[in-house]
Amino acid sequence: MKKRYLVTAALPYANGPLHIGHLAGAYLPADIYVRYLRLMGKDVVFVCGSDEHGAAITVKARKEGTTPRAIVDKYHTMLKDTFEKIGIAFDIYHRTSEPIHHQTSQDFFRKLYEKQEFIEETTEQYYDESVGQFLADRYIVGTCPICANPDAYGDQCEKCGSTLSPTDLISPRSMLSGSVPVKRPTKHWFLRLDQHEQWLREWINTGQADGKQLHDPAAWKNHVLGQCNSWLDQGLQPRAMTRDLEWGVAVPPEIPGAEGKKLYVWLDAPIGYISATKQWALDNGRDWEPYWKSDDTALIHFIGKDNIVFHCLIFPAILKAHGEFILPVNVPANQFLNLEGRKLSTSKNWAVWVHEYCEEFKGQEDVLRYNMIKKMPEQSDSEFTWKGFQETNNNELVNNLANFVNRVLVLSHKYYNGIVPAINPDLTFKSGWEPDKTGQYDEELHLLHRKLEELGAEIVRFDFREALGTLMEISSAGNALLQFNEPWKTEKENPEMVKVVMNLALQYVAVISVAARPFLPFAAEKLRAMLNLNPLQDRGDLLDILNELVEGNPVIQPNHALGQAQHLFGRIPDEVIQKQIDKLTAAEQANQAQNIQPSPSKYAPLKETIQFDDFAKMDIRTGTILTAEKVEKSKKLLQLSVDMGFETRTILSGIAEHFTPEEVVGKQVIVLANLAPRVMMGTESQGMILFAEDAEGKLGFVSPTGGWPNGMGVK
Ligand code: MF3
Ligand code: ZN
Repeated sequence: MKKRYLVTAALPYANGPLHIGHLAGAYLPADIYVRYLRLMGKDVVFVCGSDEHGAAITVKARKEGTTPRAIVDKYHTMLKDTFEKIGIAFDIYHRTSEPIHHQTSQDFFRKLYEKQEFIEETTEQYYDESVGQFLADRYIVGTCPICANPDAYGDQCEKCGSTLSPTDLISPRSMLSGSVPVKRPTKHWFLRLDQHEQWLREWINTGQADGKQLHDPAAWKNHVLGQCNSWLDQGLQPRAMTRDLEWGVAVPPEIPGAEGKKLYVWLDAPIGYISATKQWALDNGRDWEPYWKSDDTALIHFIGKDNIVFHCLIFPAILKAHGEFILPVNVPANQFLNLEGRKLSTSKNWAVWVHEYCEEFKGQEDVLRYNMIKKMPEQSDSEFTWKGFQETNNNELVNNLANFVNRVLVLSHKYYNGIVPAINPDLTFKSGWEPDKTGQYDEELHLLHRKLEELGAEIVRFDFREALGTLMEISSAGNALLQFNEPWKTEKENPEMVKVVMNLALQYVAVISVAARPFLPFAAEKLRAMLNLNPLQDRGDLLDILNELVEGNPVIQPNHALGQAQHLFGRIPDEVIQKQIDKLTAAEQANQAQNIQPSPSKYAPLKETIQFDDFAKMDIRTGTILTAEKVEKSKKLLQLSVDMGFETRTILSGIAEHFTPEEVVGKQVIVLANLAPRVMMGTESQGMILFAEDAEGKLGFVSPTGGWPNGMGVK
């Protein structure tokens, strides 16, 4: 038995709104689990926050012509608000741009650096010459070597789920400019994952590490174990933990060579769980360390399946390498939710956006939650459809749950003026659990107890669909209890028996008012008000009623005065559903139209703003091309000699497909004169000639007019 729980839900990138796939994948299961633990009186902290670094953010900022800061501020606020509206009850929703997170991540890096967990290596990486940036992760796209998806990212193919590195991509291209990248050397720090392979394999498959039994592998989902082992079987390679980027957590500046280097987003983001816990502790006068460093804490990561390797292999390796941290006891990743037969896609706008849902379906937040849980992709991919959403609402939430609650409340007011009737517990009636079964009050309370235990067992083994089914069985049995005993017919001739039935039905509603909270928190709150019971405290409320029921005691007392019936769930008519289907189709069509006519701008997007000093570093001069000849074996290059006034330079220029040697000889041009020399096809090029380029890639001469001498500065 663990003493405390630290539950995490994947930090969403702050580059877009939340859709139902996110909700069903990580946030709802985590929320159900945590709410249940709280109801059982457990010590639990539930952390999440925005993932504000990485290419996801900077690429978006570039596309929208704004700064990464503006992007993360916008989406962090939006995500936080959406989570609140849909009832995800984090103890803290933090963000990785906070100073406390930068410090925490840098401390981690230092520690690993000091412990010599990194190898420092200069390797050739893709570089976009037109924007002057290295292209790692999502800055580069190309064809997936595994499934031939033409739009795989440098770190992952979203189609087949394979983890990639940029050099795996076939025909790579830059996300920033679309151009074909070149390779350039750059130094980075690589985590020696190869050295962690052995213990990771053992830990994943047996639950043992450092001679301790840390988890039960039988409690892990098969698809999670499967993905880990397929990675391990391919052999773990050292993995770069740094990047050449502007935006992100800086490599600690005292480390030689740190300048311009940022932490890899998959190093800093999971550490975000720790910084969030630290901030929570500061805000609440608590100590964060037991939650991360004590063996009697259960650490559980809720994620989608695309995050499995980071949470099951890489982050554990980082935690272990650090030395002071515990490892997760489980990583109950979910698979993917599809929408109306197709993969959810943010870029294709094929999604149901949670913030839009909350606007359009105000007061029906639980309906979405219910549907997401019912369709939760726990073991395999699953599917959401609007028709299914409507049917589920009308048949289950309205006809079963709302109908039961409403009948109980209305009849109690009618027969007993809203006072819970006192009863003779020896009178028998027809049980709602199966036809022709004689019901007995105490025994029925024990049955409820057993059902709640079943529901709890399902939740702790991450079987949320089952658990929801069990909750609804209680409501179905309640309905059957009324149906079989027909108080509306028998109340006159057998009022004492009807009192037992109605009292019992109220026990059902009271039990549901607690047990529904993990799944349907808004409905649960309403039920408490309808029953005139205290709002739930999340401090063992379910444990309390279990203790009563196991003794055969009621959980709502005779003579207690009930509140008024409230509207719980209503039927959703066809028009509402049709509107949503039309909206999806319209979004899709708009998107297709966009794809057919790519925006015909003839202007390349502006590069990011530079300071005057950056410009002043360039030495640009006039020069005249003296000679030109084709370079053997090169389609693109012309070798030129250029009179710079003070000297003659050899310059290789990639213009052979645009101009013949004869066309260029004698032209006066503008030359970038202090560009580092570069050897191409065996010849050193000593500068670069500037040309204008149009949208089709056609080149034009940029020549000074007015007969300037060669070697004059251009400023
Ligand atoms: N932002 C990542 C994603 O959306 C998830 C980060 S999880 C964390 O895929 F562990 F790194 F925080
Ligand atoms: Zn693929």
